[in-house]
Amino acid sequence: MKKLVIGNLKMNILSPDERDRYLAWLKKELAGKKNNDSEIILCPPFVHMEAFKKWNNKKIHLGAQNMFSETKGSYTGEISPVMLKNLGCEYVILGHSERRRYFGESNGSINLKIASALKNGLKPILCVGETREEKENERTLGVITNQVKEALLGVKRAKAEQIILAYEPVWAIGGEKVPTANEIMEAKLLIRKILVDLFGKKYADLVPIIYGGNVNIKTVAGVCVDSGMDGVLIGRESLQPHEFVKIADIINNSCKF
Ligand code: PGA
Repeated sequence: MKKLVIGNLKMNILSPDERDRYLAWLKKELAGKKNNDSEIILCPPFVHMEAFKKWNNKKIHLGAQNMFSETKGSYTGEISPVMLKNLGCEYVILGHSERRRYFGESNGSINLKIASALKNGLKPILCVGETREEKENERTLGVITNQVKEALLGVKRAKAEQIILAYEPVWAIGGEKVPTANEIMEAKLLIRKILVDLFGKKYADLVPIIYGGNVNIKTVAGVCVDSGMDGVLIGRESLQPHEFVKIADIINNSCKF
């Protein structure tokens, strides 16, 4: 299984000029890189998706940061999975904690989106993780269990290999701290166990489980390599092509041992 290095650009890159500068910088950083053992996925804001696609860099796959569960019609302001697919988008982040927190997304609405993404040929990157308060109240494992089970309710085992699970402790996102390698491994084991319950071992083993939350060149060894994760979901540092590509390098090199 290739390691996944996913960049979530969030609501940044405010103009076509800024986008072009970003892409030019990224191209420079990627020049000469092989990254055979990892797959780089970038999730730009919707308005930049087409330009990222036209940029046509074979080393980069595209993902969206969200989508609606319906495919077409009177849903003002929403984006259809079919629109994304038709633009060359392969992945979609669903259930990110910022969507849950600021836009009231529930496990139920995320479940509808997961089903629709899979039906329409997009690979969902399902984000789960506990808030600081839930961690302090020792509710981490219960919260993760509910999020995974409810978001994947009704998904057929044959679709399992299309899904990516991202463990993202909310308190680590955009912060200064990260969980210990042991805490991450514990979350990974739990998620794997739930996936085995849902899909059976053979299919559950096909689901990559990645880590997100304050990933940078200093933390990546601990949160991904040492804790045996299948990749990372990167926010802030994906806006810095130099750092982003360096993180991909560290992960890629770790696959050689
Ligand atoms: P961060 O964000 O890398 O800035 O902590 C991660 C995320 O929100 O997925």
